[in-house]
Amino acid sequence: MNILVVKANNRPASEAVSSKMYETFMENLDGLNVTTYDVFAEDMPYFGQDLFNAFAKMQKGEELTDIEQRIVAAKQKAMDALKAADVVVFAFPLWNLTIPAKLQTFIDYVYASGFTFKYDENGQMVSLMTDKKAVILSARGGVYSTPETAPMEMAATYIKNVVGGIFGMEIVEEVIIEGHNAAPDQAPNIIAEGLAKVAEAAKRLSAVTV
Ligand SMILES: Cc1cc2nc3c(=O)[nH]c(=O)nc-3n(C[C@H](O)[C@H](O)[C@H](O)COP(=O)(O)O)c2cc1C
Repeated sequence: MNILVVKANNRPASEAVSSKMYETFMENLDGLNVTTYDVFAEDMPYFGQDLFNAFAKMQKGEELTDIEQRIVAAKQKAMDALKAADVVVFAFPLWNLTIPAKLQTFIDYVYASGFTFKYDENGQMVSLMTDKKAVILSARGGVYSTPETAPMEMAATYIKNVVGGIFGMEIVEEVIIEGHNAAPDQAPNIIAEGLAKVAEAAKRLSAVTV
């Protein structure tokens, strides 16, 4: 059983709640084969024409530029990491209503027809990662779980749509810590309760897979 933890915050755990969620999750995993994919530590050029130029050149056997080599290697590394995983854990903050750009780049690398999804002969989308499970760990300073605010939340909602809705992974655990910036007096309790849920999720996963 291989666990891939996609860590998407390079702020220290003493300051960033989602980094603390990552740390707590790791501390409470037991007896599992765990790999961290740190999107801020990886060399991940932005997805765009450099990649398409590289593919065209590779088909023609032409030499790649430095940026083209880097993006091809980075995309392959992300895809290999995802492929090898049975469970994929995403630990990320909500920043400016969405996910950090580095995590977006990871998704851009693996969101590939023929790899994570395909279209069948009737034009229907078919998920290709239905044998994998996903865990969502996310923090947001405001409250985005009410009917009025939920449509603005594009971090956890986005990741769930991508990995669950498109890739077909089963989302087995989801822990959201929210509202600690909106209600500073309640922040210590909100964060402590959320981190306890993160620890429980890690322990449940360890128990299932031991
Ligand atoms: C750059 C940045 C942007 C943020 N944008 C929002 C936001 O749009 N809405 C919100 O409620 N909180 C926002 N926050 C607060 C975070 O959601 C909060 O700190 C939460 O704990 C997740 O981020 P963290 O893990 O980096 O702490 C932002 C924080 C940072 C550092």
